[in-house]
Amino acid sequence: MTGYELREMRPQDRLPVAELICLSTNAWYQAHGKPLIFSGGPRTTELHFDLYHSLEGSSGWVAEDTRSGAIIGSCFQHIRPTHVSLGIMNVHPNHFGRGVAHGLLQTIIRVAEREGKPLRLVSSAMNLDSYSLYTRSGFVPRQAYQDMFLAVPKNGLNKAVAGLDMVRPATLADVPLMGELELAVSGIRRDGDYRHFIENPEGIWHVSVFESAPHRLEGFLVSCAHPGCNMIGPGVMREDEVTAALLLTELNQHHGRTPVFLLPVDRNALVREVYSWGGRNCEMHFSQVLGSFTPFQGVNMPTFLPETA
Ligand SMILES: CC(C)(COP(=O)(O)OP(=O)(O)OC[C@H]1O[C@@H](n2cnc3c(N)ncnc32)[C@H](O)[C@@H]1OP(=O)(O)O)[C@@H](O)C(=O)NCCC(=O)NCCS
Repeated sequence: MTGYELREMRPQDRLPVAELICLSTNAWYQAHGKPLIFSGGPRTTELHFDLYHSLEGSSGWVAEDTRSGAIIGSCFQHIRPTHVSLGIMNVHPNHFGRGVAHGLLQTIIRVAEREGKPLRLVSSAMNLDSYSLYTRSGFVPRQAYQDMFLAVPKNGLNKAVAGLDMVRPATLADVPLMGELELAVSGIRRDGDYRHFIENPEGIWHVSVFESAPHRLEGFLVSCAHPGCNMIGPGVMREDEVTAALLLTELNQHHGRTPVFLLPVDRNALVREVYSWGGRNCEMHFSQVLGSFTPFQGVNMPTFLPETA
């Protein structure tokens, strides 16, 4: 007897799930003496439900407490052509340690097994509760990232970076090349996500590509400006120099804001360049993969919306 039931997320779960994501995530940060992640309250975390019910192949699971009927756990899955990824995992703090997260995780592992695809996620290297949850179930940390934030001045960040003249806003015609590039660099493909970001129905996305010659992309980078997520990523690039040009361009979409982005720790020249722009570290994350994995052949910048390692 677990005392809870796992079931697929339904439209009427939208507000309780937003409450849970906000409360559970903030509780962890508060308990560890850190600033709240979702300082704008549960209205800002409605974004997860909304986005993951409009992206093709994304959906969610909840755990419902048998006695109270309350939603005490939630998690999202993203079924993509090459892999499945696991979205934000949350359990109500009153119900920590009951195996709720383990149950949700096993459900999504079964989905990945049924699909015959690896399961990927991004987990905090500082939150041992979630780190352990995944490694106990066979996930392997494959890449470490430093989460950095950078306060972009109101009139923009003016830095000399090579290749800026090859960066331009992405168009829908770029999507197949973006898909091929991500497959070559990160071993995964998710064209539908990129189509969505470029179409931008929520009005929160911006996408840039680095085009070195006609129909030759060296990298692309997405950013998101929403009170529930102000991040630069996802993106993939062949080289550090390409990353610097794309990152500067996307940072400059966020005048007066302080976006967060994840840089691979082994790209030290890039990391030091970003320090020189004013970047500061705030956390560490791992790409974790259950199943087959090909080492990255370039720079991979994951994000938490949607989370794909
Ligand atoms: C992380 C979180 C989801 C875990 O939820 P939970 O329902 O309490 O977790 P479970 O009860 O299923 O336990 C998770 C597993 O991790 C294990 N674990 C926890 N801390 C551990 C440690 N330090 N070392 C080894 N194992 C550990 C538990 O023993 C358990 O393993 P088991 O099921 O094989 O016994 C929950 O703490 C939470 O919502 N935190 C705030 C939000 C968050 O951090 N989300 C994760 C974002 S990726």
